Amino acid sequence: MNKIELQLYRPYVVEPALLEQYVPFARASTRPIDLVSANVATVPHYSPFRYPGGKTWLTHILRRWFAAKPVTTICEPFAGGASASLIAIVEGYVERAILVEKDASVASVWRTILSSNAERLIERILRFKISRRTVNEVLNSRPTGDTSLAFQTIVKNRCRHGGILAGSAGLLIRGERDRGLFSRWYPETLAKRIRLIHSHRERIAFVEGDGISALQRFGQRKQQLKLFVDPPYPKLMQPGVRPLYNHCALNHERIFRLLEKTPHDFLLTYDDTDYARRLARTANFCYLTIAMRNSNADSKKELIITPSPIATLLD
Ligand SMILES: C[S@@+](CC[C@H](N)C(=O)[O-])C[C@H]1O[C@@H](n2cnc3c(N)ncnc32)[C@H](O)[C@@H]1O
Repeated sequence: MNKIELQLYRPYVVEPALLEQYVPFARASTRPIDLVSANVATVPHYSPFRYPGGKTWLTHILRRWFAAKPVTTICEPFAGGASASLIAIVEGYVERAILVEKDASVASVWRTILSSNAERLIERILRFKISRRTVNEVLNSRPTGDTSLAFQTIVKNRCRHGGILAGSAGLLIRGERDRGLFSRWYPETLAKRIRLIHSHRERIAFVEGDGISALQRFGQRKQQLKLFVDPPYPKLMQPGVRPLYNHCALNHERIFRLLEKTPHDFLLTYDDTDYARRLARTANFCYLTIAMRNSNADSKKELIITPSPIATLLD
């Protein structure tokens, strides 16, 4: 690798001294990695959600991160569909996962799946006769308890554009292969995923609450943890941007400050913007850009931020 080549990769790393170690990542990240057709189609999906901003596409990288410095516990303070924790638990990279999520409707799904009501939820999903009328009935109803709210949330997530739970996102009209509302409603698959997660319930703890406070608490734990931190993108706080989540406002500087102090290994993801790069640089973290195409073939750049280089991340 000559000097000019090294210069080429400079935008991808924070610390010039670490450049040599980051070159393998940087090389991979200078062209879009086709994570949809090359990877996502072939990776297992464990989450019952189709989550906006979900990280199933990161599975290969996450597996390398889990394997690089094994620990017993993964913590996900902005859990959403919890794709990272589910990979870690189901595939045996960790013994325990702690999920934290602020959205009450998402929380109801995790609580129900991890409780003795999981089978009741599955029954409702399997019995549901999907049509525009029944979906509207469920979405307009007032849930009477956690299991009803969990069912309503799953119907909403499956039948709305992009799985968006916030605001008044519309229902799928054409969906996949013109199957409209039916295109994302796979009751048997959902039942299987819920049963699988339920079978690991002793290993998964769920907390409804604030991810930033949780990060602070995790920082005080003596036992080594892996923190997978995937907050809503800062651009969602800009006026006029359609919300993807019911909770989008966060103090991102605070997240970086807590991670600067944490004794734990972490992997933080952001959209690749000057703002996120600046926060990473100020904290002296390492980052790399991953270009990925989503299922609509739109190209998108994401930052993966770590406390130190993980040489095996993108081999
Ligand atoms: C990018 S999504 C996480 C997606 C997840 N990694 C996945 O693969 O499905 C961010 C999540 O953070 C949640 N959230 C937003 N503010 C929060 C807060 N203060 N505390 C905890 N969760 C929060 C949102 O509701 C959303 O579910």
